[in-house]
Amino acid sequence: DKGNHRHFMQKEIYEQPVVVAQTLSSYLRTLEAKVALPDMEFDLGSVERVAIVACGTASYVGAIGKYWLEQMARVPVEVDVASEFRYREPVLGPNTLGLVISQSGETADTLAALRHMKSEGVTTAGIINVPTSSMAREVDLLLPTHAGPEIGVASTKAFTCQLAVMAALAANIARAKGKLSDADEAVLVKHLAEVPAAMNAALAHDAEIEGMAHTIAGARDVLYLGRGPDYPLALEGALKLKEISYIHAEGYAAGEMKHGPIALIDESVPVIVIAPSGPLFDKTVSNMQEVQARGGKVVLISDSEGLAQAGEGALATIEMPKVHPLIAPLVYAVPVQLLAYHVAVVKGTDVDQPRNLAKSVTVE
Ligand code: M6R
Repeated sequence: DKGNHRHFMQKEIYEQPVVVAQTLSSYLRTLEAKVALPDMEFDLGSVERVAIVACGTASYVGAIGKYWLEQMARVPVEVDVASEFRYREPVLGPNTLGLVISQSGETADTLAALRHMKSEGVTTAGIINVPTSSMAREVDLLLPTHAGPEIGVASTKAFTCQLAVMAALAANIARAKGKLSDADEAVLVKHLAEVPAAMNAALAHDAEIEGMAHTIAGARDVLYLGRGPDYPLALEGALKLKEISYIHAEGYAAGEMKHGPIALIDESVPVIVIAPSGPLFDKTVSNMQEVQARGGKVVLISDSEGLAQAGEGALATIEMPKVHPLIAPLVYAVPVQLLAYHVAVVKGTDVDQPRNLAKSVTVE
């Protein structure tokens, strides 16, 4: 049931503050300022490497998780799209944790990758939304997301709930390895607990984003730029736009622009820049200015501080609440999803059932 919403995708975007809070509530003990995971039979402190395997949107959760795990827990992380994983004959040493991420828990390539890891003796965990799925049954440690059924083919609420679990997993591994002090853990719990309210603040910009959709809908190509954990979010933004609006879109690490893609820039190419203020902000802004100097039309998504510093000259700006860089990908996902959604509505596509796509891809 879509309720008051025109599409399931819209409904699912709007459900995020509630379902992310639901998911977080089973991974945070806010009163004690602790993160927590379900009971498990192995010691997270012995994890020396993490191999993450997933497809599509779930693979971008893995890519964001790599930044978090490496920063917090200081363990090396590899991220593969599942269709490539088995065939590159990955080296899976002892003390590797194999992590699959999947909304459906049935994606054929991810399931095959999970079975491959198990056959190599790797301990596995899964961030999975459908609790009765094949993957949920087969992983050693199930880390459920509590997003509820996701109907829209374009994944939205599953993505942000997966990120919430990923952050909790990274913190738990960091703590088990002695890399996270009680004080740092408390700060992290506080920031994570702020996510639902920050998502609500992001949703309040819906009408504004709808207003810009007409301009973007006329474009043939759109680029998304981000740095650090917001780089995989740029990839996610581009995927979301292409799958439901059929506009060609690419995500790039902001610093890569000058190594090729900047050649594409002219007045007809909108560039969506995802840049929360923080340590990477100035670098991203200088990449953005390179785009503007070539006539590129920038939509800057940042907070009040960032927009005051760099919003001038942008075609449009979207103001996010000021959040800690760690949780920015969860909050900045909202405008990125809304933009794709409204562009698709302007274009009149079948938002919930885009052409050529299936909700669950059960062939390899
Ligand atoms: O069910 P899964 O999370 O394993 O699905 C993975 C991808 O097929 C999925 O995320 C796909 O990329 C979505 N259509 C993205 O919106």
